[in-house]
Amino acid sequence: MSFTGTAQISSRKITTQTLREMKESKKRIACLTAYDALWAKLFDEAGIELILVGDSLGNVFQGLATTIPVTLDQTIYHCKAVTNGASRAIIVADMPFMTYQITPEEALRNAGRIMKETSVNAVKVEGGGRICDAISLITTNGIPVIGHLGLTPQSINQFGSYRARGTNDEEAEQIFNDALAVEKAGAFAVVLEKIPATLAEKITNALTIPTIGIGAGGSCDGQVLVYTDMLGLTTDFSPRFVRRYSTLADEVTKLTKEFIDDIKSSSFPNESESY
Ligand code: KIV
Repeated sequence: MSFTGTAQISSRKITTQTLREMKESKKRIACLTAYDALWAKLFDEAGIELILVGDSLGNVFQGLATTIPVTLDQTIYHCKAVTNGASRAIIVADMPFMTYQITPEEALRNAGRIMKETSVNAVKVEGGGRICDAISLITTNGIPVIGHLGLTPQSINQFGSYRARGTNDEEAEQIFNDALAVEKAGAFAVVLEKIPATLAEKITNALTIPTIGIGAGGSCDGQVLVYTDMLGLTTDFSPRFVRRYSTLADEVTKLTKEFIDDIKSSSFPNESESY
């Protein structure tokens, strides 16, 4: 047992059941992305309940404009690294674009590869009704699935922009119905991205599974952010839903400059840093 600033952390592994119990007892679920062992370990030790190996690794790690080019092999590589670093949090792998959309059987095969080749605990897929057969087949074969609705970044070319979704009645109704369908198909949680807070609240109240919000207001059962946004390591992306807890990018630049100066001035290494 250890303590964070506000909460006591049990060392017990977080499971899908833990998350369901947290929803029932109205305890908020804290989630972050991670793509390597170093950050995963820090977040795990701090008490994060869910670590998402997001396909945002395409943006954050690879410097891509979208998540679309991320491959299954890359996801597996990052999942192995994250699971080497974290042991308590439930670890979820984002299934990359076109690894689960073509047929439910292919979705199961690819989810199975992730589970067999890494130690993640679950997978996440984007979309509603049209991928419910895949969710159902994956979950009935023993692999827990998280859904993802609202602004689903893998559909950016269809959406045409990163604007909030569900802002008109038709879209809101579609997202609400998709949330019900995803739960019915067997998902154990659903991410709601960039939708009105009122819609997220309605979905959260209608579902028995936890909702994890990102830009979906304060009523969701949990919240997730991309860790580089949360820590202020990214400076070129500042939607209103990101709360920056630091300006680490500035700090890293400052410290790197100090390091360079120390080398240039021959003050590093000094005698005690030498053999
Ligand atoms: O890929 C990702 O990081 C995500 C979160 C933003 C929910 O899907």
